[in-house]
Amino acid sequence: SGAVPFRGAHQAGIVTPAQDRLHFASFQLLRGVDRAALIELLSDWTVAAEALTRGAELGAGGAASGPPLAPPSDTGEALGLGAAKLTLTFGFGRSLFETKDGEDRFGLAERLPAEFTELPAFAFDLLDSATTGGDLCIQACADDPQVAVHAIRNLSRIAMGRARIAWSQLGFGRTSSTSQSQDTPRNLFGFKDGTANVMAEDREGLAEHIWVPESHPQEWLRGGSYLVARKIAMTIETWDRASLSEQERIVGRTKGEGGPLSGGAEFDAPNFEAVSTAGGPAIATDAHVRLAHPEQNGGARMLRRGYNYVDGSNPLGQLGAGLFFISFQKDPATFVRVQQSLKADSMNEYLRHVGSGLWAIPRGISPGEYVGQALF
Ligand code: HEM
Repeated sequence: SGAVPFRGAHQAGIVTPAQDRLHFASFQLLRGVDRAALIELLSDWTVAAEALTRGAELGAGGAASGPPLAPPSDTGEALGLGAAKLTLTFGFGRSLFETKDGEDRFGLAERLPAEFTELPAFAFDLLDSATTGGDLCIQACADDPQVAVHAIRNLSRIAMGRARIAWSQLGFGRTSSTSQSQDTPRNLFGFKDGTANVMAEDREGLAEHIWVPESHPQEWLRGGSYLVARKIAMTIETWDRASLSEQERIVGRTKGEGGPLSGGAEFDAPNFEAVSTAGGPAIATDAHVRLAHPEQNGGARMLRRGYNYVDGSNPLGQLGAGLFFISFQKDPATFVRVQQSLKADSMNEYLRHVGSGLWAIPRGISPGEYVGQALF
C-alpha cells in the first residue's frame, strides 16, 4: 500500500529510503501554551500522523462524510493518493527546555541534554530570521508532493490555538540516498549527491554516528538523533558559467559518474594523497569532498537527507534555487565540526546559507505512546 510504519524503535523518515518530495515545517508555540497544552498538541498530532502515514482520512467523517454543517475533519486533497510512503519526523527545539525570566515554561529544564546548544555563527552565514529556528519541527517526506503538503497543512490546522507555522520549505528532488537500494540522485549543480552517506544497511555506522546511544543520560533521547536543517541558496547562474573541470575541481569528483578525482568509480574511496598529472593534489585542498570527509573531521559522519528546491525567481531572471540540507547525527557537534571545516571550501563562492535550524529528534514512538512521551 506504500505505507511506512509510523511507530518503531526510531522515528521514520531518517533511515527510510529517502522519498522524492519534502515539505518541512517549523512551528512556533503560541503564548499561553503550557506543559498540558503541549502534551495535548503532541497527542493530537500523534493520532493524526498515524492516520496520515497510513493514507487514511482524518477524523470520523473524513473529507466528505461528516456532518454537512461542520467543516470536514480532513481537507480532502489527498483523497485517492494513498500513503505515498509518507513519513512524519518530529523534532523539539532548544527553546522548549529554556528557562526564561526564571520561568521553566514546560517544566523541561532538567531534561535538556548537555550537548544541545544552539549552532554557532559560521563564516559566510547570511541567515534570514524568517527561515531560521522554531520550537518544533515536522519533516514530511513522501513520494507525492500533495501528500506531503496535505500532511503539513492538516497538522498545522490541528495545532490551531497552540502553535503556528513559523516557516516551511518544499523540496522536489532528494539529494541523498539513504539506502544502498537507491540510485544516487543529483543536486542542482548537476552532481551526484549522497554517495558517501551513512546508509540504512550500515548498522554499525548508524549506531556509532546517528543514533543517540543507550548510555545517554537523557532517557527520552536514547535511540533519537539531532536534525540540522540549512537552507542553502545556490547561485546556479554563476555556477553554469564555470568550466566542467573547474566544477569537478570544486567538488572533488567527476560530474558524470561521480568517482573521486583521485581515480576509480563512484563508490571507490577517495585517495587524498594522490597527485594529478599536473603535479598538484588530484583532489584539491579546497575541494568539498576533501574538507567534508571524515578523515579531515576526526572521523565525524552524518546521515544527509536533503532536497533540491526552487522558490520562484527574482527580477533579474535568476532562479531562487538551492539545497535544503538536512542531516541527522547523534550530536550537533558533528555538524558544527564539518561546517567549520567547510570554511575553506571553494564551493562557498556559489553558496549562501540563508536558513538554519537544530532540533532534537526523540526516539521512535512505541505502541500507545504519543510523540516524545518519554520527555514528559
Ligand atoms: C559530499 C554537494 C553542503 C557535507 C558532497 C558531494 C557533493 C556535495 C556533490 C559528493 C557526493 C557525496 O558523497 O555525497 C553539496 C552541495 C552543498 C553541500 C551542493 C550545498 C548546497 C554540505 C554541507 C555539509 C556537507 C553544509 C555539512 C556541513 C558533506 C559530506 C559529504 C559531502 C559529509 C561526504 C564527504 C565524504 O565522506 O566523501 N556534497 N554539499 N555538504 N557533503 Fe556536501
